[in-house]
Amino acid sequence: MKIFIDTANLDQIHEVSSWGIVDGVTTNPSLMAKEGVFDVVSHIWNISRMINGPISVEVMPLDVKGMVMEGRKFAEIHKNVNIKLPMSTEALKATKILSSEGIKVNVTLIFSVQQALLAAKAGAAFVSLFVGRLDDIGSNGSELIDQTTTVFSNYNFNTEIIAASIRHPGHVLDAALAGCDIATIPYNVLKLMISHPKTDDGINKFIDDYKKLNLL
Ligand code: G3P
Repeated sequence: MKIFIDTANLDQIHEVSSWGIVDGVTTNPSLMAKEGVFDVVSHIWNISRMINGPISVEVMPLDVKGMVMEGRKFAEIHKNVNIKLPMSTEALKATKILSSEGIKVNVTLIFSVQQALLAAKAGAAFVSLFVGRLDDIGSNGSELIDQTTTVFSNYNFNTEIIAASIRHPGHVLDAALAGCDIATIPYNVLKLMISHPKTDDGINKFIDDYKKLNLL
């Protein structure tokens, strides 16, 4: 399973790029706003200097003309830039146009298998399934990943499934068990995935024992 980092924070991207585990980056308007980004183009260019993999950038317009125009503009920033479109009829039309031009599209805000199916049919390279936000309303986000993975595999779709809106390491495990292509993970969850209390205990015990040997 590929791991993307779900952030627009340059320090976090720089840090995880040194871990050797990150295959791409996803951003959205909320993540950009959190970082106070006012120049999206130069911000994305900076990200492209740090990560050699797909970078999802979301367009602002909601009409097909605006989506296509802004999508083309962002795609010119770097060859790794993908255009994120929030699911709608207009997004399906824009996906068809942009993908026919060789621009990869990530259809986002997907909450059902049916939405994912339509996005894939329109030519999306990625679909972003919002696991955490489904759990928030008492639904089952991991089940959506599981079912979509089965459907896409039934028909050999090339569209890659991104498990998004990930809130904790359990979501990552569920995505991996379902055979999901990609999990886009916030920095704090990546940090949680590294640690385990028994690992910390073990390291402290080794340190104590080295001290007994006068090696430290
Ligand atoms: O990639 C989409 C993701 O950023 C949404 O996460 O936590 O806002 O539901 P969240």
